[in-house]
Amino acid sequence: MPVTSFSRAVNIADLRELAQQRVPRAVFDYLDGGGEDEVSLRENCRVFQDVTFRPRHAVSISSCGLQTSVLGMKFDLPFLLAPVGYSRLMHPEGECAAARAAGEAGTGYILSTISGHKMEDVKAASRGKVWYQLYLMGGREVAEAAVERAKNAGFSALVLTIDTPVAGIRERDLRNGVSELLSGKLAAMLPYLPEILAHPGWLASFLRDGGVPKLANVVVPGSGPLPMVDVSASLANAAVTWSDMRWLREIWTGPIVVKGVLTADDARHAMDEGASAVVVSNHGGRQLDGLSATLRALPEVVAAVNGRIEVLMDGGIRRGTDVVKAICMGARAVLAGRAYAYGLAAAGRPGVAKAIQILRTDVERTLKLIGCASISSLDPSYVDFPHLWCRGKG
Ligand SMILES: Cc1cc2nc3c(=O)[nH]c(=O)nc-3n(C[C@H](O)[C@H](O)[C@H](O)COP(=O)(O)O)c2cc1C
Repeated sequence: MPVTSFSRAVNIADLRELAQQRVPRAVFDYLDGGGEDEVSLRENCRVFQDVTFRPRHAVSISSCGLQTSVLGMKFDLPFLLAPVGYSRLMHPEGECAAARAAGEAGTGYILSTISGHKMEDVKAASRGKVWYQLYLMGGREVAEAAVERAKNAGFSALVLTIDTPVAGIRERDLRNGVSELLSGKLAAMLPYLPEILAHPGWLASFLRDGGVPKLANVVVPGSGPLPMVDVSASLANAAVTWSDMRWLREIWTGPIVVKGVLTADDARHAMDEGASAVVVSNHGGRQLDGLSATLRALPEVVAAVNGRIEVLMDGGIRRGTDVVKAICMGARAVLAGRAYAYGLAAAGRPGVAKAIQILRTDVERTLKLIGCASISSLDPSYVDFPHLWCRGKG
């Protein structure tokens, strides 16, 4: 049965459906879609079924501890909100709404470089920790200015995304005319406008917000904030290499998290270059297709790191059971991407808050059902997963 109202949404899949109803197809597919045949995207979600719980029954658990710490920062929840670009197109309050909802729930928010809101406003919107995700769009000079601003605004960590030497090919975006719509040229936009006009509620709020925002934190000397339409071209000139880590450590003294690690080799590189943590991530299946599902890659990275730095993971988190499985398998915490972005697209800040609430109650129930009193007590003995996944051990 289709979900017809926000108050009746009971899980993340319901929020996804509501998002699909509220925003035009071009926006929904940008959020929902993945690279090429979307195999990695589907696998990220499906692979959680290959992990089963080994519960301890008849254990008395009166209250559950959901708190965790990442990089020495305390969080009330074992999941943080992942960087999601173009959030302001999903809802005018975009990144500010997500940061605020995260802070109110006692968890962290990671702001994407591809943000329509100024990083200072996003930081001010949250009473919690906010990290800044860095792309080198516009080159080192532009990135240095952004890092300086992040430092002054009080961001607590930098997240360097390494899996984006070019933008992945998302065929849904091509079909929906995303670049034509962002171009602002009426003739190019025309074939795609009827679909947009079919969502008057979203369109009215988009126009009230001033239309397509520029990238407020990618300020190019001489020409100002980068227009969104130039993002793909800018990414293609912004490939990150390990030598950038050295430069980054000179300009940022706080923790650096490397996002997009899928192998023991890359995990060791990140450690050697001074990363404080890595995120096992395939960008939510949006970049290269045919990659390992991230949960499957997690044991190899955990073994390679061997406790020296923290390991986070993202990809496919839609339920609290997913969060708990990943933590049992060695993740310090996970990042949720689409799970909260569906909420944002469906209903703005209350939608994000609802997504967080759904995941939180799921995690708490799961802990009770497996007979574990706290996130910090989870370990591999609570799950079974295919032995082949441990390839990187030793
Ligand atoms: C719409 C969208 C935009 C994204 N934008 C960024 C980004 O700007 N920077 C980044 O490092 N990751 C980005 N990601 C990847 C997420 O940070 C995260 O790795 C991914 O969403 C996790 O998978 P999940 O959506 O299945 O939870 C984006 C993901 C989505 C869905």
